Amino acid sequence: MSDDNGRVGPTMTNQVERRRWNDPTWSAMWPRRERMTTEVTRYLLDHLAPAKGERVLEIGSGGGTASFAIAERLGHGSVTGADISGPLCELARRRAAERGIANASFVVADAQNDELPGGPFHAAASQFGVMFFEDPVSAFANIRSHVVPGGRLVFVCWCDPGRNPWLMAPTLAAFAPAPPSPPTGRPTGPFSLADAAGTAELLESAGWSEVSHKPYEVVVAVERGTIVDDEMFEAVGIGPERVEEARAAVEARMRPLARADGRYDAPLAFQVFSATAA
Ligand SMILES: C[S@@+](CC[C@H](N)C(=O)[O-])C[C@H]1O[C@@H](n2cnc3c(N)ncnc32)[C@H](O)[C@@H]1O
Repeated sequence: MSDDNGRVGPTMTNQVERRRWNDPTWSAMWPRRERMTTEVTRYLLDHLAPAKGERVLEIGSGGGTASFAIAERLGHGSVTGADISGPLCELARRRAAERGIANASFVVADAQNDELPGGPFHAAASQFGVMFFEDPVSAFANIRSHVVPGGRLVFVCWCDPGRNPWLMAPTLAAFAPAPPSPPTGRPTGPFSLADAAGTAELLESAGWSEVSHKPYEVVVAVERGTIVDDEMFEAVGIGPERVEEARAAVEARMRPLARADGRYDAPLAFQVFSATAA
């Protein structure tokens, strides 16, 4: 059995997200959105406290920006970025080569089920890369199996959509065809771990202990294209007949965020979860 990207394996989980993050239009758009995710890297680093010589796994490493920041702290240690997207792993590898970063490597893998090379790891980290699992308990158990006993898990995920009005996914969803439901019936996406109590419970079910979480809110001033552009309409499957309506809905959502200098104030409401491998 093989998936859309020609990968062959016994299980083909997370097909909806796999397709999305390997889509050429979607993955090419990602670097324009990174400003919103890299803003939180310093919070991730504060909680993770990477130590010299450690081996760290980064889940959903995308274009590698958090992996590079972690790698810088590790000295002779190393970071392995695991991501379901072939194009984004390629981007991360290219950037590592251009920047001369030798202790960060990137592997195309589904963190929910796949063997993740380079372990066992002292810590697993993620910057907005763990909200897309159709079976999060299995995924966090698989991640734990790659971490040494007593090792740590630190990840950043979004809080409620109402506190992140700049995230256009819910607005655009009203104009796009509904994506196929994952076989588990559990919706994936940027807000799937927003409920802190539910997320703590699923981490404990996956064998993580000492679970804690800390919410943050920071406001970042960005250009419009960092938040939304016309390519996004196409990428989420909005047909030409609904583009004008979608554009108007986006406009209404953007208006309250507008600044006098032409940029937009985006409030980022996120939370950092920490846990220990039991
Ligand atoms: C919102 S992006 C974050 C990327 C990067 N960490 C950053 O902060 O810029 C989410 C990333 O998770 C990856 N991803 C989604 N599902 C995954 C899975 N099952 N296993 C590994 N990576 C996954 C996507 O391909 C994407 O690169």
